[in-house]
Amino acid sequence: MKQEIETIQSDALAAIAAASDEKTLDDARVAFLGKKGRLTAAAAGMRHLSSEEKPVMGQLLNVARQAITSAIEEKQTALSELADQKSVEGIDLTLPGRALSGGGLHPLTQVKDDAIQTLRRMGFALADGPEIETEFHCFDALNTPADHPARNEKDTFYFDSGKLLRTHTSSVQIRTMEKAAPPVRIIAPGSAYRRDEIDATHLSVFNQLEGLYVDTDVKLSDLKGTLEFFLRSMFGDDTEVRFRPHFFPFTEPSFEIDIKLHAKGQEPKWIEIAGCGMVDPAVFASLCETRGDDVFDPDKVTGFAFGMGIDRLAMIKWGIKDIRLLIENDVRFLQQFA
Ligand code: PHE
Repeated sequence: MKQEIETIQSDALAAIAAASDEKTLDDARVAFLGKKGRLTAAAAGMRHLSSEEKPVMGQLLNVARQAITSAIEEKQTALSELADQKSVEGIDLTLPGRALSGGGLHPLTQVKDDAIQTLRRMGFALADGPEIETEFHCFDALNTPADHPARNEKDTFYFDSGKLLRTHTSSVQIRTMEKAAPPVRIIAPGSAYRRDEIDATHLSVFNQLEGLYVDTDVKLSDLKGTLEFFLRSMFGDDTEVRFRPHFFPFTEPSFEIDIKLHAKGQEPKWIEIAGCGMVDPAVFASLCETRGDDVFDPDKVTGFAFGMGIDRLAMIKWGIKDIRLLIENDVRFLQQFA
């Protein structure tokens, strides 16, 4: 039996040494150590031995099993090292890696977040309203008569239902005041839609940020101070800002705000970034009617409102000369803001 065990061991070691892949190595393991393997069969023969011989043979069997097992393990390591080497054959591991470029927020998102953060610090809370709006909230409640050009079918995107894509975020003013009571201090960022000719400073879908402050003693100086403070904290103390008298049906007096745009390779020029004014008492009067109460009694409350173009804020901030760059998703352009 001793002879037999030695033969099995040397046969096994030879088979393991000859194995050239995982499969043949595993076959060898099964052939010698498996349930029906040769060493297992030899061990079964132990029961015919005398009790003196048993421990001696048992020891021999153990030694053989250990030798075979460790030979298999060594071979396994060698085979997997070989496989690793093969898998990188012909590849130059000293070449520098290809870096993945990191993502970043879109410039519009960045200015919007900036603007919101600044205005929230000044006490404005976020408000929201639908983009598919009723004519009432978009126009009537904002003192905009039926013959106003903004309501023209040709100038606005109407649905068959009579609703429309809001032409400005000012509708959120009405939706807020229908529910809240003064003091009201809100901002509402969101999309607005117009049938504008698209050019370097106009898009048909653009982004606005509406602001509204209503209380018992809000003055024009509050409007001017708030907006000047806001614009300086966005663009720096030397920002050139001008308020131009204008007309909006829902504010009186009304202004447009311009800022100097310094774009590379262009003469500095004023661009309009916002409309603003003191809430027209007619708007409060109409609210009293809708609400059926007098918390917005035009004799008791005053307020200011503004609507800013977020896309235009981005142009000012980075000196972007064409607004269309902001929606073209050209990575060469966007990468600069990541
Ligand atoms: N809604 C106006 C526009 O889109 C801007 C505006 C808002 C003007 C609030 C005055 C007050 O042009």
